[in-house]
Amino acid sequence: MRIVDAEFVREFIRLTDDGYRKGWHERNGGNLTYRVRPEEVDIVRSRFIPREWQPIGVTVKNLAGEFFIATGSGKFLRNVSVAPEDNIAFTEIDEKGENYRIVWGMDNGGTPTSEFPSHLMNHSVKKEVTNGEHHVIYHAHPPNIIALTYVLPLEDKVFTRELWEMATECPVVFPQGVGVLGWMVPGRGEIAKATSELMKKYNVAIWAHHGMFCSGRDFDATFGLMDTVEKSAEILVKVLSMTDHKRQTITTQNLKDLAKAFGVRLNEAFLED
Ligand code: 13P
Ligand code: ZN
Repeated sequence: MRIVDAEFVREFIRLTDDGYRKGWHERNGGNLTYRVRPEEVDIVRSRFIPREWQPIGVTVKNLAGEFFIATGSGKFLRNVSVAPEDNIAFTEIDEKGENYRIVWGMDNGGTPTSEFPSHLMNHSVKKEVTNGEHHVIYHAHPPNIIALTYVLPLEDKVFTRELWEMATECPVVFPQGVGVLGWMVPGRGEIAKATSELMKKYNVAIWAHHGMFCSGRDFDATFGLMDTVEKSAEILVKVLSMTDHKRQTITTQNLKDLAKAFGVRLNEAFLED
């Protein structure tokens, strides 16, 4: 089967289009990776032409031998659906979890996203803590969440409570809450490590003055999570634009009632007033 005809590749491409239409991917902003299932690798393996091994920059032992699809560094997400073979890299991780090689894609040269270390460290953590359930890591530059990192204290609890309160479904969609990182240089091992620490607890990590990372089991869940958090941030931006005082809100008791009714466990650390 042609790689671009495989269902998982088509879903990967669709997400890049959806994210671009949302206004989250100016220029080359944002990136996407997918941990390919072994049975999916088997469908397309005959198309692989492996290139040279390259260092990842971090070690991800539990991802040894896995395959990932990644958007390319400097590539515009709006171009992925037009020319997937030029804009995405199908990659294989070596048996030490230290190197990768491109086995398909990037036809006109290039490398996987500069955030590949962050993505792979997040995949590594998520593979462990979700028992292999999570397969997608998505980084975007949604404007409302970025705007909030200029006005709210950069604390997990403050962001989580504010975002939970902006729409009744939010606590159900991200019951663990969100993690927030202060400004750091992107594309390096340090930010990768700090983000993956947050991913041990959360499926959402916010990078101050930069953007957001989401993790999920599939493309729908991960895109839906990014969309829900960003919409909540948009409502908060509107509220804060009107007033610095909420006349009424979703209370702590409301949150507890919601959790009970929906059978979700909200992060206890964020349920104290
Ligand atoms: P890449 O073009 O290398 O994916 O970088 C875009 C980005 O958003 C960096 O954080
Ligand atoms: Zn970015």
